[in-house]
Amino acid sequence: MRFFAAAAKGTEGALRDELRELGLQKIQADRGGVHFEGPLGDGVRACYESRIAVRVQTPLATFEAPTGDALYEGVRSVDWSPWLTERHTLAISASCRSGALTHTQFIAQRSKDAIVDQLREKRGHRPSVDLDDPDVRVFVHIVQDRATVYLDLSGAPLYQRGYRVAGVEAPLKETLAAAVLRLSGWDRRSPLVDPMCGSGTFLLEAALWAARVPAGALRERFGFERWACHGDAERAAMARLRREGRERRAPSAPFLMGSDIEERSVEIARESAAIAGVRASWFCRPLSELKPLRQPGWLVTNPPYGHRLALQPGLVAEFSTVARGLAGSTITLLAAGEEWARVFPFRPDREQTLYNGDIPCRLTCTSIRGGR
Ligand SMILES: C[S@@+](CC[C@H](N)C(=O)[O-])C[C@H]1O[C@@H](n2cnc3c(N)ncnc32)[C@H](O)[C@@H]1O
Repeated sequence: MRFFAAAAKGTEGALRDELRELGLQKIQADRGGVHFEGPLGDGVRACYESRIAVRVQTPLATFEAPTGDALYEGVRSVDWSPWLTERHTLAISASCRSGALTHTQFIAQRSKDAIVDQLREKRGHRPSVDLDDPDVRVFVHIVQDRATVYLDLSGAPLYQRGYRVAGVEAPLKETLAAAVLRLSGWDRRSPLVDPMCGSGTFLLEAALWAARVPAGALRERFGFERWACHGDAERAAMARLRREGRERRAPSAPFLMGSDIEERSVEIARESAAIAGVRASWFCRPLSELKPLRQPGWLVTNPPYGHRLALQPGLVAEFSTVARGLAGSTITLLAAGEEWARVFPFRPDREQTLYNGDIPCRLTCTSIRGGR
């Protein structure tokens, strides 16, 4: 089977490296994600283990779709019976670019008609639509009149890990935090701190990664577990995968510390850590009170940059002073805006653009040498 693992723009390279480490085959990074090939079990494993993929999908058919009728026939030519019956619910999303069909709602509607008509004809009843929590999700993507129909394996997006406590403004998506950690070069053993940790996403993801807990270990289920063809053999294979994941847990944990000026954020981070079953030290205190680390490590943070959270005057200068006191450590910063671009009077070792939703952010990694 062919698969496409979708990811935030700018994180495709990190996802490619991660999928390679998972031992998946024929991996190729593309815009917005990574292609790979293998048996269904590889797609399942990507859903369960990837920290960076937001979704995993498999293409079921590709055909010319210059008209609504051609689209209808193309979608109807797929045998839908392995995936859903009249007892399943269905949702279809569509996207299109540079072709005759330009309305995503029309594309989704015609595709849905093709699927339900086929099943009604075969079984006498049709599945119903559930846009919020469907059993089966289908994506129809049309580029220059060429349609590809994808079946989703993930279900709810993969950043929904199962540990998140709601209530914090501007939390980072777990998948983006995992990509930033990988791009930071953190070795999973050295101390890691986030002095503006908000709900603690970096530290929670770091703790789970260091402990070798699969990203999906806390999720109750994935999309593929709701398919019609998911039977006893598939359930046993999934139970085995989960058991193997639990058995791989690392015995020791690195020093992880998060702090934030907002008390409620720190409480939420602590509660999430308890749900995730990981340990970190949490403090409610301003950035200025960050103590030098006992041994060099990594500081990874995503400060306010004036989009969803206001940037307080003086915060950039304060961060610069604090960070430059951490000689020997690496500072990884995910931020947008001119102020953060000039935080240090020297160039970062590495920098690249990553998208936080639709906001382009700069990811910079800077090692602090003595005397800076
Ligand atoms: C963009 S949010 C971080 C979100 C976080 N990465 C998460 O996933 O939830 C920035 C955080 O910086 C905190 N902050 C702002 N000024 C601060 C300061 N002077 N000292 C410590 N934390 C501060 C805010 O309270 C906020 O939680």
